[in-house]
Amino acid sequence: QSKAVSTGPERNFVKLMKQQNRQVIFFYGSQTGTAEDYASRLAKECSQKYGVSAMTADIELYDMTYLDAVPSDNLVVFVMATYGEGEPTDNSVEFWELLTGEEPEFSESTTLENLRYIVFGLGNKTYEHYNAVARVLDTRLSELGGKRIAERGEGDDDASLEEDFLAWQEDMWPAFCDALGVDESNAQSGPRQAMFGVQELDAVDRASVFLGELGEWTNPEQLLQQTVVHDAKHPYQAPISLSHDLFQQSTDRHCLHLEIDLSKSNLTYHTGDHIAIWPTNNEVEVERFASVLGLSEKLDTPIMVEALDSAASKKHPFPVPTTYRALFRHYLDICAPASRQTLMSLVEYAPTEASKEALRQLATDKDAYRAKVGEAMRNLAEVLELCQGHDDEGTTNVAPGFFSTVPFDLIVESVSRLQPRYYSISSSSLTSSKSVSVTAVTLSYQPTKGEERTVYGVNTNYLWRIHAPEDDAVPLYDLNGPRNTLKNKKVPVHIRRSQFKLPRNTKSPIIMVGPGTGVAPFRGFVHERVHQKQHGKEVGPTVLFYGCRHSEQDFLYKEEWPQLFEILGEGSEMITAFSRETDKKVYVQHRLKEHGERMWDLLQKNASLYICGDAKNMARDVQQTFIEFAQTYGGKTEQEAHDYIKNLRNSGRYQEDVWS
Ligand code: 2AM
Repeated sequence: QSKAVSTGPERNFVKLMKQQNRQVIFFYGSQTGTAEDYASRLAKECSQKYGVSAMTADIELYDMTYLDAVPSDNLVVFVMATYGEGEPTDNSVEFWELLTGEEPEFSESTTLENLRYIVFGLGNKTYEHYNAVARVLDTRLSELGGKRIAERGEGDDDASLEEDFLAWQEDMWPAFCDALGVDESNAQSGPRQAMFGVQELDAVDRASVFLGELGEWTNPEQLLQQTVVHDAKHPYQAPISLSHDLFQQSTDRHCLHLEIDLSKSNLTYHTGDHIAIWPTNNEVEVERFASVLGLSEKLDTPIMVEALDSAASKKHPFPVPTTYRALFRHYLDICAPASRQTLMSLVEYAPTEASKEALRQLATDKDAYRAKVGEAMRNLAEVLELCQGHDDEGTTNVAPGFFSTVPFDLIVESVSRLQPRYYSISSSSLTSSKSVSVTAVTLSYQPTKGEERTVYGVNTNYLWRIHAPEDDAVPLYDLNGPRNTLKNKKVPVHIRRSQFKLPRNTKSPIIMVGPGTGVAPFRGFVHERVHQKQHGKEVGPTVLFYGCRHSEQDFLYKEEWPQLFEILGEGSEMITAFSRETDKKVYVQHRLKEHGERMWDLLQKNASLYICGDAKNMARDVQQTFIEFAQTYGGKTEQEAHDYIKNLRNSGRYQEDVWS
């Protein structure tokens, strides 16, 4: 086995821990940043409260074969997200391959006798393989001889991730203290130690200030060279070459069709992959955030932010020097609901007794938190506004700068980094290899009944604003201040490979079920099959079930389909379900049932089945429909029918690309 010669940063984490005198390492396998956040929170508690020196580590950056060399008085904690169909996150793929290989080869042995570990998993119960990565990891480490120090924790992103994480820690920390010989009763809640130093700069070369750039800066001339690899850490600033609204009757709902130009980059994709787009926070929220903290006048002041711990995993949490405005717009996730832990950490800095109490209540009372923050989708600034509403005199007023008492480094520490959003690509790489299309509905909803408050999806509304900056019917953005990112119509992107792929044999029939924007990857699939057919290949039956509200309002790509299916010819068709045209709801699964016998017949002819869209209801109902087909047309018992679907999944003939 050859090891890469390390010329860059140290990849042997055991050596690094020793050099830096760290006893515990918190590895994270993170896709959207939550696992990374959780790892940092645990590491902070570990060092500040229990006095045990710790570090966090992006699992991708280290050579995990050294797991067998971790001294037995150290501890390794894994905070691992499961993504999609029980898959590891992009940054943990390599570790996953090492660990699940038949006989893993570590640096000096094939076992982990010395290893002491703890696992916390982040998953989502709407998916079949709930927390599969954490579960398999835990079992595997223990099989290899590792010693589990505390019970594995599992968080459900569909319901109660934050609560699960907090509840798990109640038993985890005592077990942790026990293992490391820490006296838990001595745990300190002394004065807070700042993690970041923030400094406003007087004299700075304006050109060197980062105003929303992400990842490492790349020379434009290098972009076309193979040496630049664009990934989650180095997105590509891609021009948007085309955008239009796909809804026929635009009211307040829009569905954007965007074409993103990759021709000036070396990025490639395959039909069925995902594209990540980095959003920009709404200017209204940027200003709200600044106002609560008393920073409105300073939005464009250059600042420097750096980690105070010289051994922190990242010296700078984002490109610096930057400005408060760029920080709020591009780097901090200021629109997400504030976490209970964040609220708790701010309590002591609230300026009045009443606001302290209001914050404390939201941070400690789960029901109050759920009602006013979690379900109400209130971001940090909105929560602070709510809490300042009651000042000591009992009056309700929202005064700018009310919370200027909060140290800004604490904000940097507690608010998560803004993360990319992922979309199923709706073009075919065969027909459009350097232009990726995205199909995204602008999200907005009123989370609290009876209240006027509307919450907007950060990225889709940002994209809408790029598309229609002059449309003031939807006043989502106040375009005061610098507009550099909007003017250029560029968005930072990278491609994520997926398993959602057409069968290799073009003759195999396919059945696709994709209501709403779930149709996105199927547009790519259909374009691909049409291209194959036009180039002389024999293409099997191609059936698409599509659903939307109304044939005249939100029918996506309505004009395109007839021609495409005409080319595909006999045996191929699009079957539609319009849910709001008649008194009765008509959904894709209802239409599937009408064609049950034929669908079953196609399955017998080796058809592959694809489902894309809402995970919670639609994908489940569709699966149930196919289970019924196996009983009705295949004469199977209920158990056999379930097994049949399971086998289809295992053999890659039942694929889902679903979200919740
Ligand atoms: P509805 O909003 O009228 O209920 C795309 O969002 C389409 O999917 C809409 O027509 C929507 O109908 C429909 N839909 C909602 N719930 C569904 C479910 N459980 N199964 C299938 N389609 C559903």
